[in-house]
Amino acid sequence: GIAACIFDLDGVIVDTAVYHFKAWKRLANELGFNFTAAQNEKLKGVSRVRSLELILEWGGIQKSAAEQQELATRKNEWYVDMVHHMTPEEILPGAKELLESLRAAGIKTALGSASKNARVILEKVDILSLFDVVVDGNMVAASKPDPEVFLKGAEALGVAPERCVVFEDAIAGVEAGKAGGMKVVGIGEKDVLHEADLVVSGLHEIDLQTLTNLYNSK
Ligand code: BG6
Ligand code: MG
Repeated sequence: GIAACIFDLDGVIVDTAVYHFKAWKRLANELGFNFTAAQNEKLKGVSRVRSLELILEWGGIQKSAAEQQELATRKNEWYVDMVHHMTPEEILPGAKELLESLRAAGIKTALGSASKNARVILEKVDILSLFDVVVDGNMVAASKPDPEVFLKGAEALGVAPERCVVFEDAIAGVEAGKAGGMKVVGIGEKDVLHEADLVVSGLHEIDLQTLTNLYNSK
């Protein structure tokens, strides 16, 4: 049966997209252009440096590598300030309950996130202890849709990828899980996350029976 579940963070365990949006918008505005919620959607699962590249492209401005470094750092400082005020009430519905029931059933848990701030966020919402392993943006070379982040998680848990289920809200993340040979539960909409083996609106829709059925399905 299933030996491990690997969770994306942003959009699956907590909704930090609103903080990313505020920080990127502030940066764009300082640079003299606007940044919309629709554009923010396109940055889900995308690394910090790549996100900045896209935003500068959308704003129609060019910056040197050194300037880009400085801008990414500035955005991250605002983001980290907001993240430091996060509380356990911000854990998305069903996330904590699912992690606890996995634990009780002897199924291992890992985090597989592109964020370099993943650990501090888990600490702030007081859920770090429910993960056996945390793989974050500081530990991987290749971004999703490359499966590296999830494969590292499986390896650290000592579990074969085939016996893992990944939970992801981003298209690139769903692709990464599939590329790693794992079952993938998409969090969001079916017509967007069509590569996922199952799509639900949130972790509150998942229980052990759902996971067993998913694992036994082709
Ligand atoms: C992903 C988010 O989880 O992490 C992206 O969906 C974000 O929006 C990326 O850019 C990197 O996060 P951070 O915290 O390292 O800037
Ligand atoms: Mg995500």
